Amino acid sequence: MYVAGRQCFAVSNPSRLPTVERARATIETSSAGGVDDRAGPRDLVVEAEGGVLGPAQLTALGAAIGAGKRAWLYWPRERAVETVDRERLRSYRRLRRVAAVLAPFARIASHLPRRARAGDPASPVSAAAAATRIETGDDYKDAAQAQWDENPVGSHYADRSVPRTLDWFHEIETHRYRRYAPWMPAVMEFDRHAGEDVLEIGGGIGTDLAQFARHGARVTDVDLSGGHLRLAEENFRLRRLTGRFIHHDAETLPFPDASFDLVYSHGVLHHTPDTARLVGEVRRVLRPGGRVIAMLYAESSWHYWRQQVWRRGLVEGRLRRESMGEILSQSVEISGNDARPLVKVYTRDRLRALFAAFQDVVIMQRQLTSEELPLPLRPLRAIVERVAGWNLIVKAVRA
Ligand SMILES: C[S@@+](CC[C@H](N)C(=O)[O-])C[C@H]1O[C@@H](n2cnc3c(N)ncnc32)[C@H](O)[C@@H]1O
Repeated sequence: MYVAGRQCFAVSNPSRLPTVERARATIETSSAGGVDDRAGPRDLVVEAEGGVLGPAQLTALGAAIGAGKRAWLYWPRERAVETVDRERLRSYRRLRRVAAVLAPFARIASHLPRRARAGDPASPVSAAAAATRIETGDDYKDAAQAQWDENPVGSHYADRSVPRTLDWFHEIETHRYRRYAPWMPAVMEFDRHAGEDVLEIGGGIGTDLAQFARHGARVTDVDLSGGHLRLAEENFRLRRLTGRFIHHDAETLPFPDASFDLVYSHGVLHHTPDTARLVGEVRRVLRPGGRVIAMLYAESSWHYWRQQVWRRGLVEGRLRRESMGEILSQSVEISGNDARPLVKVYTRDRLRALFAAFQDVVIMQRQLTSEELPLPLRPLRAIVERVAGWNLIVKAVRA
């Protein structure tokens, strides 16, 4: 069935639906793993206008999922598809409730003058690795390469040193662990893996991987962005550290089973279309008893609701015509070009489902700076961070 607005009609040719590669999110709980592109006439496809679904659409989705069918959301203007499971449906119901309560306030706020905000600083470095792009056949993965080849992560915050020097890498590191995320060194356990084989997925410019390496781990980085990988290699060379740097899509890892003691990944799994497949690969390459430490963006967070839903979605009115996926894709990562990387957000339940094949799953929440909070809440920052931080950190053991 195909539900557009209030109308329902059968899809005569389901194969015309956009394919897996366009999917905004995956059904991590499905046994097939990832998005299934075999939409059949008995599955439900709901056509959405903006980001907030109507009651009829929510009811139809609930009934379909309850009856064991697969359900999809489809945004024709964005040419985007999202598969919907129970947990995503809960998120859409929550978004509708919050939007209904906040709509009158957002209308008022939209007429108030806004404090002028400095735009995102331009990236001082383009890693210019266009020559070394991986052919993925996937728009989102191509967008990820365009995004991070041109806008190396963290580079916007280094304005006192010459790009690509040791000082520059140190300046980025200092900003990361002193100002942006002081919780990282302890929570991410950089100094606890000496003598182990550590794989980082999407290591960026190598800042975190260098911490594992300087504390004695044997490290490997796999990244889709050739530009990032080149910078990570430079970073290691300047610091006189050793590591392996492999240009590859982590949804298919180029390693034999049971190759690593730790797989670490920070801010990557939510950018790849088939996250479930990537997590399956993580499990495969871990040795029995090996661990994964991964950070993904949190839906139940101050940043998501305050910055993305309230500010961009409601006050700017974008939810009327765009999905949250589109808003996140345009807003979350600092971009000096028009690359639109895929950005997904996770609840704790969704993360537990994603790592269901692992043991001893622990989930922590962090990442909230004082500046993000209104003045009266600032003294409570450390507490608010643990329930509403932008990062969910999952730690789990391969059985
Ligand atoms: C936001 S950056 C994070 C970089 C680094 N982990 C950090 O925290 O600074 C996301 C990184 O994930 C990489 N990435 C995204 N999808 C990937 C995939 N399927 N396989 C490998 N790397 C991927 C990107 O190329 C980019 O380097």
